[in-house]
Amino acid sequence: MLNRNPLSTTQVGLSGSGRQSSLLGRENECALLDELLADIRQGVSRALVLHGEAGIGKTALLEYLIKSAADFYVVRAAGVESETELAYAGLHQFCAPFLDRLGRLPAPMRQALEIVFGLRLGSPPDRFLAGLGVLRLLSGAADERPLLCVIDDAQWLDRASVLTLAFVARRLLAEPVGIVFATRDPGEELRHFSDLEVRGLPDGDARVLLSSAVRFIPDVRVRDRILAETHGNPLALLESPRGLTAAQLAGMCSPLGEQGGAGRIEQGFVARLRALSDDERRLLVLASAEPVGDPLLLWRAANRLGIPRVAALAPETEGLVAIGERVMFRHPLVRSAVYRSAAVEQRRAAHLALAEATDRAVDPDRRAWHMAAAAAGPDEPVALELERSAGRAQSRGGLLAVAALLQRSVVLSADPVQRVRRTLSAAQASLHVGAFDRALRLLATAEAGMLDELQLAQVELLRGAIAFASSMGNAAPPLLLRAARRLEPLDVALARETYLDVWGAALFAGRLACAGALPEVSRAARSAPPPAGPEQPSDLLLGSLATLVTEGRATAAPLLRRATTAFLDEASPAQKNVRWGWMATIPSHVLWDEDSWHAINARQLQEARDAAALARLPIDLTAWAVLVAWRGDFGPADAAIAEAQAVTEATGSRLAPYAALLLAALRGREVDASTAIESATREAGAGGQGIGVQWGDWVSAILLNGLGQSERALAAARRAAEEAPQLFISGWALPELIEAAVHSGRTELAAAALEPLVEATAAGGTDWGLGIQARSRALLSEDEAAERLYQEAIERLGRTRLRPELARAHLVYGEWLRREHRRVDARGELRAAYDQFTSIGMEAFAERARRELRATGETVRRRTVETRDDLTAQERQIAHLARDGLSNPEIGARLFLSPRTVEWHLRKVFSKLGIRSRRELSSAVPTESELVPS
Ligand SMILES: Nc1ncnc2c1ncn2[C@@H]1O[C@H](COP(=O)(O)OP(=O)(O)OP(=O)(O)O)[C@@H](O)[C@H]1O
Ligand SMILES: [Mg+2]
Repeated sequence: MLNRNPLSTTQVGLSGSGRQSSLLGRENECALLDELLADIRQGVSRALVLHGEAGIGKTALLEYLIKSAADFYVVRAAGVESETELAYAGLHQFCAPFLDRLGRLPAPMRQALEIVFGLRLGSPPDRFLAGLGVLRLLSGAADERPLLCVIDDAQWLDRASVLTLAFVARRLLAEPVGIVFATRDPGEELRHFSDLEVRGLPDGDARVLLSSAVRFIPDVRVRDRILAETHGNPLALLESPRGLTAAQLAGMCSPLGEQGGAGRIEQGFVARLRALSDDERRLLVLASAEPVGDPLLLWRAANRLGIPRVAALAPETEGLVAIGERVMFRHPLVRSAVYRSAAVEQRRAAHLALAEATDRAVDPDRRAWHMAAAAAGPDEPVALELERSAGRAQSRGGLLAVAALLQRSVVLSADPVQRVRRTLSAAQASLHVGAFDRALRLLATAEAGMLDELQLAQVELLRGAIAFASSMGNAAPPLLLRAARRLEPLDVALARETYLDVWGAALFAGRLACAGALPEVSRAARSAPPPAGPEQPSDLLLGSLATLVTEGRATAAPLLRRATTAFLDEASPAQKNVRWGWMATIPSHVLWDEDSWHAINARQLQEARDAAALARLPIDLTAWAVLVAWRGDFGPADAAIAEAQAVTEATGSRLAPYAALLLAALRGREVDASTAIESATREAGAGGQGIGVQWGDWVSAILLNGLGQSERALAAARRAAEEAPQLFISGWALPELIEAAVHSGRTELAAAALEPLVEATAAGGTDWGLGIQARSRALLSEDEAAERLYQEAIERLGRTRLRPELARAHLVYGEWLRREHRRVDARGELRAAYDQFTSIGMEAFAERARRELRATGETVRRRTVETRDDLTAQERQIAHLARDGLSNPEIGARLFLSPRTVEWHLRKVFSKLGIRSRRELSSAVPTESELVPS
């Protein structure tokens, strides 16, 4: 049953209306479509967007395509102009033939789809989870036969559906599935697919088509004028002569108005409507206002308006509409001509009749929508209905619809108090879907009304949230700070949460913060009223971070430890953990507490995955990748980075490449790393994201220290260390500064940096912190003191999992021994450093160690760092997951790929590694100590 979609409202040329059955002048286009089908039959998925003006022949090409795809399953759907704002309406229509397969999906995907299709209640699912479900459905359907998905009038598809379908189309790779869209305007969502612009017919074909429409045009000038003015648009060619009177055809007056393109064709239809009776026109208006194409509904409504059945006859014989199983207009332009040319009163009457004819229980949203269109002015009950529809849409995750519904409900609100409340909700919904401009406009509207104190604070909070969401730059902190202050007397819990948000925003803005910088935020947060109930992990976090900034590390240390313990507590609710995500690991950064960082991060990653919180996931993956890179596990770091990229690509979100930069710096390939660092730093600076600039300086210092470019390393490290000295990046930059300063003979600078480093590492008292402290002190010491410190550093860092830091301790110890002329001892240390660097893959540091070794008289053959193979990051990641025993569907769910595409990648992995089976993967892909937790 897949090739017959009962819900399809695709507008096709009506059969039996004597239309051209074969296409004129479309040889190239048809050849392209044939090729597309041939590819899909070969198992290569294809996505294509046909675009061009109204009437140019897109639907006709789709019909050709479908006719040529007799061996395919064909599913089709079409956007409907009046349903553009009903979330998931298009996707539901599209998936109708697959719904019996829902049961075969993994539970989370199945539930997500059931919720968006209104088949079950539940909290709004992640849009991408729904997309992944659709991907699975399509991929499953294609098991039996190649699958062709045809989506017409995509310009009218609701945005949630377009985004989901575009997501699906992007993630298909090795599948016998094709998705072809036809649209008047590709829009942002469909811009990245291969496309085919449908243009006017060549002159000769246009003539043939024109003469098929009217056998004889007496005046040759009229014919030429029609040909010239229609620019080969088939619909215009077919319709223009029909609207003309005999006198016009004979050339007595201008045949076509001044309007261009679609407008002109529509005018042609309008002219034809004039010939109809009042009842016939009213019936057409009713049909044009009814998006579903349901004949029963149409007649119920017609009954209410007293329109008799015979009213359908003339429009049907005229070929304007066909009322059969579905109500179908001859062409979308007929529908719009009918609707637009109707008087406002007539449209309202039609919508009112449709609302009354629509079952409230079965389709409350469409009913509310019709009620809204029928309202003459503000109408409180209708506004309330719309608000309720918004609530339902929200539970389907149709946030885009929520914003639209609320916005209409604002317009119809009669009660000023309700109006303000709804405006704020609409602004919030718009913020959630990334419609920042609309959200700001709504906020301005709200402000024009009477706001109470809490609402004023909400306005400010939303402004701040919009600023943070749109740039993560320096505009957000002052706005959020004002909101938090205003909220203090009104809602303590919300005020405290807002303070934590401001703190995070100010951290991001860093040195580029204009106002609302960390010290100011921290002071304000500390004087905020205490929580009303028992302290939550977030309260402890806020208290500890604020104290850290105002009082320094020593005072804050016990608080930071308490906050860390609270987040480590398995019993603390997962929800809260996800909410505070990356901020929950800040205390462990400050305390140099590697184990807590690891534990909290692993748990968050798990929770973000379980909740399919795709907006958060890249952030947690990035934090994870930073940690594992620092531990010298570059393969897993690569994998986590690739996974974060897969998610951000799929979701279209952006995140600065923090982990990738650290990894590049540690790898130490000069050109690659410095290019990446420079461009990311520039971008962060331009966006007012100070923390990105600081991060760039810190990782530059690591890179340059590895390359032995001490002076430049010193400059970068000094910049990174100067900023926000109480926090973590500055602390991490200090050992780089000390090493670079010592190497470039600026001992006084190194000595000056020692004290803050001691202070920074003492608070945590961990092997990591104290090991780094010992290593840095050693660089500034002499004789036995120096040796003792080097050994202490090696001992302490040896107890951590931060292998690069340990290797660096061996390196500087070896360098010191060589200067002490203890060549044999020096060789031992340098050899250890060299081996560790090469096994980790730290090329620059390995080279530095090799040069030192040579200076001791030992020659080392340059061993290129082991580059395992030429697997791409994604292939490597898939290989790892397969090696760990994940099945193709499981890997697919992780990476947003279909199982078949995973299989396709795996085959490439096998051939690159020269193996035949998954079992051989375990020897071909070495185990690494730290994989991304699954
Ligand atoms: N190459 C062609 N040869 C003959 N007739 C054609 C050709 N292309 C289109 N037509 C006819 O022209 C009319 C308009 O074409 P079609 O409906 O495909 O336009 P469209 O691009 O889909 O317009 P819209 O954007 O409004 O949906 C139809 O009646 C169709 O049968
Ligand atoms: Mg069309």
